[in-house]
Amino acid sequence: MDGAPRPASGASQGASNPAGAEERLAGAGTAGQPALRMAGIAKSYPMGGKKLEVLTGVDLEVGRGTLLAILGASGSGKSTLLHIAGGLDRPDAGRVWVGGQELTALGAEAMARFRAARLGFVFQFHHLLPEFTALENVMMPGRLARQGEARVRERAAEVLWLVGLGERLEHRPSQLSGGEQQRVAVARAIVNRPELLLADEPSGNLDRDNAARLHELLVRLAAEQGQTVVVATHNDRLASLASGVLVLDGGKVRPAVTEEMENR
Ligand SMILES: Nc1ncnc2c1ncn2[C@@H]1O[C@H](COP(=O)(O)OP(=O)(O)OP(=O)(O)O)[C@@H](O)[C@H]1O
Ligand SMILES: [Mg+2]
Repeated sequence: MDGAPRPASGASQGASNPAGAEERLAGAGTAGQPALRMAGIAKSYPMGGKKLEVLTGVDLEVGRGTLLAILGASGSGKSTLLHIAGGLDRPDAGRVWVGGQELTALGAEAMARFRAARLGFVFQFHHLLPEFTALENVMMPGRLARQGEARVRERAAEVLWLVGLGERLEHRPSQLSGGEQQRVAVARAIVNRPELLLADEPSGNLDRDNAARLHELLVRLAAEQGQTVVVATHNDRLASLASGVLVLDGGKVRPAVTEEMENR
């Protein structure tokens, strides 16, 4: 495989757990595994006595150090898919692996630990803690991972400078603009250097310049730091920077055709 993201070909090859039970959370011995693999993912929501089928069989594989953009109309299931990829929600059927570790096999506690150690998530609606400052919000993942307080503070400030908020460390979310809040959320997601960053419309609230800066940052994370980034977006410029683009349509993913990239 060339590392480019792609929908998995055919039925989930190797779905019978490739590396077996001795895989450990630390990720040892999983270097050859894709950063993210999803096989046969289905998800529906019960609504008014009926079932709303959102995902009906998603198969995809994302190589390490790549940036995958997922496009799709509003309501096509992009957020649902990212939540399942990040272990924030469980599929009705199908399996998810991150770096060879099967997420869908973990219990709630192990899942929470795995998420804190190895995943970063930027939510569509940023979910910052209102009573904490920007700096404290970004310190949260380091504190959860029980890193030393001084180091956590220094690293959080460094990442806030990186996203252009070095002058806003002490502001609470209500004292920040929408775009600034979104950048704090990005800083919080990348502060622990996650191997897989899942970002749901991260540039949705940003003006052109700040969106471009954020896109550059996402590309750099993938290209220079070997992190894998999966981003749901409506933004053509971000899609054009991605190493692969998939479209969520009718509950499944397929490769984007050039026309879709140009006409969006
Ligand atoms: N908890 C829920 N209960 C019922 N239906 C839900 C629930 N969450 C999502 N849905 C429905 O599932 C569909 C997919 O939602 P999702 O948020 O994944 O879409 P999306 O592609 O992220 O859209 P957008 O681009 O607007 O963010 C939508 O039609 C939505 O109404
Ligand atoms: Mg969404």
